Amino acid sequence: MTKYEGIRLDGVGVTLGGTEVVANVDLDIAPGEFVCLLGPSGCGKSTLLNVIAGFVPATGGVFVGGHEVKGPGVERGVVFQSAEALFPWLTVRQNVEYGPKIRGASRSECAEISERYLRLVGLFHASDKLPSELSGGMRQRVQIARVLANEPSVILMDEPFGALDAQTREVLQREVDRIWRATGATIVFVTHDISEAILLADRVVTMSVGPRARIKTVAKVDLEHPRDLMDPRALALHRMLRDDIGSEVNKSLRAQGLLTEEAA
Ligand SMILES: Nc1ncnc2c1ncn2[C@@H]1O[C@H](COP(=O)(O)OP(=O)(O)OP(=O)(O)O)[C@@H](O)[C@H]1O
Ligand SMILES: [Mg+2]
Repeated sequence: MTKYEGIRLDGVGVTLGGTEVVANVDLDIAPGEFVCLLGPSGCGKSTLLNVIAGFVPATGGVFVGGHEVKGPGVERGVVFQSAEALFPWLTVRQNVEYGPKIRGASRSECAEISERYLRLVGLFHASDKLPSELSGGMRQRVQIARVLANEPSVILMDEPFGALDAQTREVLQREVDRIWRATGATIVFVTHDISEAILLADRVVTMSVGPRARIKTVAKVDLEHPRDLMDPRALALHRMLRDDIGSEVNKSLRAQGLLTEEAA
């Protein structure tokens, strides 16, 4: 079903409002790989994701499946932090069928697609409900089903579970892991949560603070699934990533005069 496509960022830079937010970002993501992007608030994670999505123009090269990104495309699905991206006047089923319908799928094809993906996210029973009748976690699942219905080869997720409680978050993390295996899509997932990154990613990429933020560390997560965060290797990786990001946060605080050398 899914065409496997890698992502390549080659000397990518982004200037927003006169500030060079990210600079010289090089990153190669293999087809079917799951990469988590971690970093202090404001460093440019969403910016980088939006560059891959084609929402934000960049200098340098941005390639998906070997093709240069020049704007948004249906082969790149984006899951946002909040489910406001859903159409509130459409039912769950209609939201999921929206993309296929636009692409010219027949009624029966649309029905088949929405059933498949709503079952995959465990929400087929809620097909006829409106988004306003669902919990936050359910809405996020609809958003994921809606993105999957376009059968993207690349899924870009920007803190998709940031607004959810810890239990719902855990359920959805497992679900994303399962969906990733089922579809084989390449996933770039932005998060603040180090544990979430270690649970999900093949590789965790950290960013330095901006302006001119760049990739700081690329860590491979060599742990078998399902992952145990209490595994000594997971704990060691957690500590390394925490120190890596912590030192960037301190740099940013120092630059703002909010941290003295002694306190650091
Ligand atoms: N339209 C814009 N004009 C000017 N500056 C912008 C614009 N959008 C974002 N920025 C700046 O770019 C930087 C990176 O923003 P971005 O949203 O990518 O950060 P982030 O890493 O996703 O942060 P968070 O973790 O808080 O979501 C920030 O310093 C922000 O102030
Ligand atoms: Mg962001």
